[in-house]
Amino acid sequence: MSKVRVLGLRKRFDKTIAVDGVSFEVGDGDFVVLLGPSGCGKTTTLRCIAGLETPDEGEIYIDDRLVNDLPPKDRDIAMVFQSYALYPHMSVYDNLAFPLKMRKYPKNEIERRVKEVARLLRIEDLLERRPRQLSGGQQQRVALGRALVRNPKVWLMDEPLSNLDAKLRVYMRAELKKLQKDLKITTIYVTHDQAEAMAMADKVAVMNHGKILQYAPPNVVYEKPADLFVAGFLGSPPMNFVEADLIERDSKILLDAGIFVYQLPDEVGSVVKGKVTSNKVVLGFRPEHMILSKNKIPETFFQANLYVVEPMGSNLIVDIKAGEYLLKAIVAPTVELPPLGERVWAGFIADRLHLFDAKTELAIL
Ligand SMILES: Nc1ncnc2c1ncn2[C@@H]1O[C@H](COP(=O)(O)OP(=O)(O)O)[C@@H](O)[C@H]1O
Ligand SMILES: [Mg+2]
Repeated sequence: MSKVRVLGLRKRFDKTIAVDGVSFEVGDGDFVVLLGPSGCGKTTTLRCIAGLETPDEGEIYIDDRLVNDLPPKDRDIAMVFQSYALYPHMSVYDNLAFPLKMRKYPKNEIERRVKEVARLLRIEDLLERRPRQLSGGQQQRVALGRALVRNPKVWLMDEPLSNLDAKLRVYMRAELKKLQKDLKITTIYVTHDQAEAMAMADKVAVMNHGKILQYAPPNVVYEKPADLFVAGFLGSPPMNFVEADLIERDSKILLDAGIFVYQLPDEVGSVVKGKVTSNKVVLGFRPEHMILSKNKIPETFFQANLYVVEPMGSNLIVDIKAGEYLLKAIVAPTVELPPLGERVWAGFIADRLHLFDAKTELAIL
């Protein structure tokens, strides 16, 4: 059993507010990802949990025990960093054994645990090698093994895969997720890579400017983003945004975006009307929810110019220019398109439309 609870965490470095009131809970055995752009406070949050930074304010609990005043070594956590920091002069075996030797485990217990971890990570054949004789992926496994070998209560990982090449990163993230699920180690994992967060997390905390903007399972942050930042940060290519004026006419709610006027269904319109703080809104629709057609069809309601086509193999990313907007659509390779520069009809799936208050940036739909 191990849970982590962070309450009202604040940390400032001189004038920089690195962490600005962060609270979240990690359930026993959960894999939580802190996701956000560089500088948003992910590493500082993790280092506070590890005890490597002292918070200015806030409480950190591991299993209901307040650990603020415990030194890192007494928190029963293991941390994996971006740089593997293996001891270059030691064999893989000795690297794995090191945390146990430091804690004066008996020799046979050390051997048993090192072999067990090596088997789990499939590095049994590498135990006699030195780190420089290993590939990047193998080094990373040794680093993970060293964090595992003590069987810690909590795993803290700071961008542990970001030094690997793209293919290995995708491979290792699945391996790591499988390992975490098998061992049920409560894990807090930091990344700036939204695809990695989506793929690995049970819950994602999306951060910006030292704050958590949304904390929810990956499908929820993707399908129901709480605000404009979250909506734009998850998804590749990202969500399309179009600014619009909200107009009420003959008891209908219209969104006038310049490039089109979109009428909200009545029941949706009344919800939106009750939530907006002004008549300025931002429409959001994901590329995969756009519909393109060479000729007008019922689902398309505005015109654009075909700007460029990016074939991705299983689908196409199609960029279209509508007024000042460059919108991205993901469509099947079988969709019939006009030649580049010519008119294309466009629309989006109505019930996948997101709407944000332009002033507060909060989601209203
Ligand atoms: N030791 C430090 N001294 C001064 N500023 C720091 C220190 N550590 C982090 N910061 C600043 O705090 C902010 C958050 O940093 P960090 O937690 O490393 O973000 P992230 O891991 O999300 O990229 C950044 O503006 C960073 O420059
Ligand atoms: Mg960082």
